[in-house]
Amino acid sequence: AAPAAVIVAIDGPSGTGKSSTSKAVAAQLGLSYLDTGAQYRAITWWMVNNGIDIADPAAIAAAADKPDIVSGTDPAAPTITVDGTDVAAPIRTQEVTSKVSAVSAVPEVRTRITELQRSIARGTELGIVVEGRDIGTTVLPDADLKIFLTASPEARAARRSGELKGADVNATREALIKRDAADSGRKTSPLAKAGDAVEVDTTELSLQQVIECVVTLVEEKRAER
Ligand code: DC
Repeated sequence: AAPAAVIVAIDGPSGTGKSSTSKAVAAQLGLSYLDTGAQYRAITWWMVNNGIDIADPAAIAAAADKPDIVSGTDPAAPTITVDGTDVAAPIRTQEVTSKVSAVSAVPEVRTRITELQRSIARGTELGIVVEGRDIGTTVLPDADLKIFLTASPEARAARRSGELKGADVNATREALIKRDAADSGRKTSPLAKAGDAVEVDTTELSLQQVIECVVTLVEEKRAER
């Protein structure tokens, strides 16, 4: 990235408002935006579509380099394609969601996707907001600003079931807790708060308040430089 570029890492579990916050902050500040969860979902979608046994980490590792994953980084219209196919919708299905933790725990998958993420971040002129689980700890440890979003499990489940239009809150909460435990417990770059990250508990905050808080933090960082 150019010297003036500002790199913002936003990590945290699902249902904390990471995507909505990251997109809005990037749009307000004229920065690029990268949804790294979408990349892990895209590689999972490819594995499922190509008959790779998700219970077999060696099979996943052997195929990790095969799909060509391309992310569009405009926060107003982010895109994701696999081998030229638009996968924005199919990567959000229940099937992909239930398999993404197993695929993203495979070290060869993480190496591949991490390289992709670093090259996208390096390529931006004004800077980028990158959201995920291990951005501040592993992918971009030199980020100018690291945010770690949290929220109570109840708030996270309620937000997710709202998104899923009428899905059962209890079932959603169980699935979400299970996925977070898998993402936090894996060996290779688990979901974790970086030592120098600013933690923002969003339980009692509106989306607008979270956005304002992060925008202010980015502007403070820019003023320091
Ligand atoms: O943010 P999301 O729910 O779309 O992410 C989907 C999955 O991808 C999540 O359960 C764990 C994985 N993931 C990851 O391992 N590392 C990241 N930086 C982002 C997502």
